[in-house]
Amino acid sequence: MNFHTRKWVKPEDLNPNGTLFGGSLLRWIDEEAAIYAIVQLGNQRVVTKYISEINFVSASRQGDIIELGITATEFGRTSITLTCEVRNKITRKSILTVEKMVFVNLGEDGLPAPHGRTEIRYVKDQFKDDEAVQ
Ligand SMILES: CC(C)(COP(=O)(O)OP(=O)(O)OC[C@H]1O[C@@H](n2cnc3c(N)ncnc32)[C@H](O)[C@@H]1OP(=O)(O)O)[C@@H](O)C(=O)NCCC(=O)NCCS
Repeated sequence: MNFHTRKWVKPEDLNPNGTLFGGSLLRWIDEEAAIYAIVQLGNQRVVTKYISEINFVSASRQGDIIELGITATEFGRTSITLTCEVRNKITRKSILTVEKMVFVNLGEDGLPAPHGRTEIRYVKDQFKDDEAVQ
């Protein structure tokens, strides 16, 4: 799993108990997963279709540096399924896991469209393709 994005937990991210607000975390993970799906499918028109059970494993506190990890587990015809974990960057303690997030690839008409992808594309392979094209 790649942990691309780091966040620094600030006062505006906290709940009234002084720990990281679950809503802030879900917003970050949904955006991170959407970007991952966009990059993998090569299309900016993707939408969140389904999110499975969310396990808030442990609390995070102000000042913590956390990191968001995503990886693709399945490529469907029009969908991509991802799995996610958020952990403390320093201690590696797990903060949140989401077993399954499904994103759907849309066409210009806003309807599900086949994406034609079957496996994870890595940045180095994308650059290799670009060089081959030029
Ligand atoms: C996304 C949307 C266009 C899909 O429409 P739909 O009628 O469910 O489309 P389909 O039945 O053709 O399913 C499309 C894909 O989603 C998958 N899917 C549908 N319902 C699912 C569910 N409950 N769980 C997991 N996957 C699901 C299907 O298996 C299919 O994948 P595949 O082509 O890889 O096999 C429609 O549900 C929608 O607009 N939802 C709102 C999205 C949204 O606003 N998200 C929040 C903001 S980003």
